[in-house]
Amino acid sequence: MTIETPSPIRQALVLVGGRGTRMWPLTASTPKSLLPLAGRPFLEHQVSQLGDAGVDEVVLAVGVDQVAAWEAYLASAPSGPRLSLAVEDRPLDTAGAVMAVLDRMDDRFLVLNGDVIFTTAIARFVAAAPSAGAVLALAQVPDPSAYGVVVLDDDGRVERFVEKPAPGTAPADTVNAGLYIVERRALEDFEPGPLSFERRVFPELAARKDLAGVVVDGGWLDIGTPHLYLDTHERVQADTPHLAADDAHVVGRRSGSWSYVGAGASIEAEAEVRESVVLAGATIAQGAVVRRSIVGRNAVIGAGARVIDHVIVGEDAVVGAGCELHAGIRVAPGIELGERSITVRPPR
Ligand code: GDD
Ligand code: MG
Repeated sequence: MTIETPSPIRQALVLVGGRGTRMWPLTASTPKSLLPLAGRPFLEHQVSQLGDAGVDEVVLAVGVDQVAAWEAYLASAPSGPRLSLAVEDRPLDTAGAVMAVLDRMDDRFLVLNGDVIFTTAIARFVAAAPSAGAVLALAQVPDPSAYGVVVLDDDGRVERFVEKPAPGTAPADTVNAGLYIVERRALEDFEPGPLSFERRVFPELAARKDLAGVVVDGGWLDIGTPHLYLDTHERVQADTPHLAADDAHVVGRRSGSWSYVGAGASIEAEAEVRESVVLAGATIAQGAVVRRSIVGRNAVIGAGARVIDHVIVGEDAVVGAGCELHAGIRVAPGIELGERSITVRPPR
């Protein structure tokens, strides 16, 4: 009897064609996967993890409206696995995007959502994966309803896959972490065109007992929402909690357990930046306070203004002196809020 060892996986496809609406307005001009995380485009963290797992070719499945941003990124990307674009004229959804490039892929390859990273090695997941049409990396979370929920049987096969069940109805706390090993044959019977892994392919493979799952312990991070984007900074910057680009100008105070200040950004005297991301070129003027919020590129937070609790200020926007924004308010790119023109607070 011969035991076949599967050949190593050398290709990955990263799904980066979503609209990133939960991260608007930052995603108005930048694809979600190119938003900086601890000062480097998110995709760069992903590609370096894929490279560490032995991948030498990464295909990025992008939407046609974001091609320019991706081409600009590819022109300056650091060395590592070879990157190429697969452009969709219309959104093909998660599995449709893979189907569209199936003829470029090996018999077995990795698929990664564009907004997740793993602090545990991807190679360990690959080594632990059994043979199946698709194998999902799984994580355990306290509230599974925002995810694809997976029920495993005793042999590590997926019994059920339920995408975003209504709150309180999730059949397990194990969720799809957005990293898969896919065998080409598992997709070959589906029609080309828009197709969802989560709503169609995975439930069908599960019914055929051709879907497996491997729980990756602990280290899984998602940047898909402002809360998660901020939380991920805290984890990724654990060794350098208050990180600033070399040419950032920080005079004011950075407080709390972490902060990030981007290239050329300026934190003026008596300003406070707490557990927040201040992107390149932004200014936090004298006495302004930014807490658990994100300030977009070249935006200005005027003197004494307060930006608190998951506020996102878009690129080039100005929050005038003395304004106060709380609780998830988003300021569109380029908007100028005049001095003391607005105070919004959450209800008590
Ligand atoms: N190319 C392409 N085309 N990519 C797409 C398309 C498309 O039409 N639609 C979505 N994507 C990409 C997004 O850019 C993202 O990287 C990925 O597919 C997943 O889409 P999200 O919109 O981020 O999905 P989600 O976060 O609600 O849920 C997904 O991720 C969870 C883990 O974070 C699902 O896979 C869940 O099952 C999973 O638990
Ligand atoms: Mg997501």
